[in-house]
Amino acid sequence: MSEQSDIGLIGLGVMGQNLARNIARNGFGVAVYNRTTSKMTAFVDEFGSEGAITGHETVGELVAALKRPRRIISMVSAGAGTDAVLDEVSEHLEDGDIFLDGGNAHFADTQRRGERAAERGVRYLGVGISGGEEGALHGPSIMPGGPREAYDQVSEILETVAAEVDGVPCCAWLGPDGAGHYVKMVHNGIEYADMQLIAESYDLLRHVGGLEPERIADVFAEYNRGELESFLVEITAEVLRAKDDATGEPLVDVIVDEASQKGTGRWTAQDALELGAASTTITAAVFARVVSSFKQQREAAAQRLAGPQPSSDGDPDQLVEDVQEALYAAKVVAYAQGFSQLAEASEEHGWELDPGTVATIWRDGCIIRARFLDRIKEAFDSEPDLSSLLLADRFREATADAQERWRRVISTAVSAGVAIPAYSAALAYYDGYRRARLPANLVQAQRDYFGAHTYRRLDRQGSFHTRWAQDRQEVPAD
Ligand code: 6PG
Repeated sequence: MSEQSDIGLIGLGVMGQNLARNIARNGFGVAVYNRTTSKMTAFVDEFGSEGAITGHETVGELVAALKRPRRIISMVSAGAGTDAVLDEVSEHLEDGDIFLDGGNAHFADTQRRGERAAERGVRYLGVGISGGEEGALHGPSIMPGGPREAYDQVSEILETVAAEVDGVPCCAWLGPDGAGHYVKMVHNGIEYADMQLIAESYDLLRHVGGLEPERIADVFAEYNRGELESFLVEITAEVLRAKDDATGEPLVDVIVDEASQKGTGRWTAQDALELGAASTTITAAVFARVVSSFKQQREAAAQRLAGPQPSSDGDPDQLVEDVQEALYAAKVVAYAQGFSQLAEASEEHGWELDPGTVATIWRDGCIIRARFLDRIKEAFDSEPDLSSLLLADRFREATADAQERWRRVISTAVSAGVAIPAYSAALAYYDGYRRARLPANLVQAQRDYFGAHTYRRLDRQGSFHTRWAQDRQEVPAD
């Protein structure tokens, strides 16, 4: 009998293929299975020589080829497919075997599947994997959650194939049940916010600054040499530089302006609402994609709704500098909101998520990798109970220094009629968060007026109600 494999992998889409190759290239034996057998055999023919890769035609054969406890990672698309794979695999697994779901599953599904698997004695890990195809092959960021002792039995493989920064892997156990998939979901929410902020910056530079895509590519490449250094800023420069072969125009100009979404950003926003986490920048980014999808309506409305037409009569050089600082400040707010949401969720589910660990494993491999994640890690390492990233010295100073330019970018956009939903949400959050007194006192009074919902007073304990429409007498409510 040939030597047994270290891990089994199910689902040979591009992510699955690349992860299998990465595992094999790192010296682990990987047994692969795909529902369509021809895809499996083609994969083994092409890449089998890269390491100890064996192909199997049935799930039963795959399981039989694995060392005990069996470790199987599913790379099928999130959703019903994962349930089907789990059901099929479970029939062949034994007590103590480990099932890893590497898809973008909703954390509540992971909680449910984890409980069901546990009833059958199978240990279930929900494993967020970020970095796209390249990341899967060369080192993704890996966000595992589930039973700790099960993680300890797969950690060597996962931490070896993950990206690393200064010898520290971008993979760490995050917490029980859905913790890993939750962190991946919020990662994607931040990804949406980051992308939208960059897109709004581009819109301003293009339509208010009057700069052409190639010049904006230079601007982003320059931004990428400073505090904004990140994967998303880097690829934005490359995207803006690309020309369309067919027309010779900038490629970005021939791409339809309707942004798709698979759901993880929406889930982040939905759960923020459930938790009472104010992830407004992420939510604005999700809605911006929704508005973009009303293409036909927008084209009709463009003929009918009044408002300024963006014109490039300002100073483009100043705009370039302003946007650089505004983008950084808004990005700090987006990440601060994401980390606050993680803290809320951790509290709600009892996960004890460590924000410093999350920042550590996002430093490389994932889509939101960025130089400033090092600073975020330092901030949480030195103050683990930080209530908001905005209060960490470094970010407090950065947002303070950016004030003038940040506000100028937003007022320029508003005057020019350029929609900047993510920028606006970030600044509104910042201004709301830093005000000791908000107009919510009036909202409370209104609620009490029409619904006797009561209010508390600044100067006295207790709840009160005023008979607003009658004698306007205030009475204690409890
Ligand atoms: C990642 C990406 C990855 C994927 C998103 C895109 O971390 O590698 O986030 O998960 O590209 O699913 O999501 P949308 O299709 O919703 O933009």
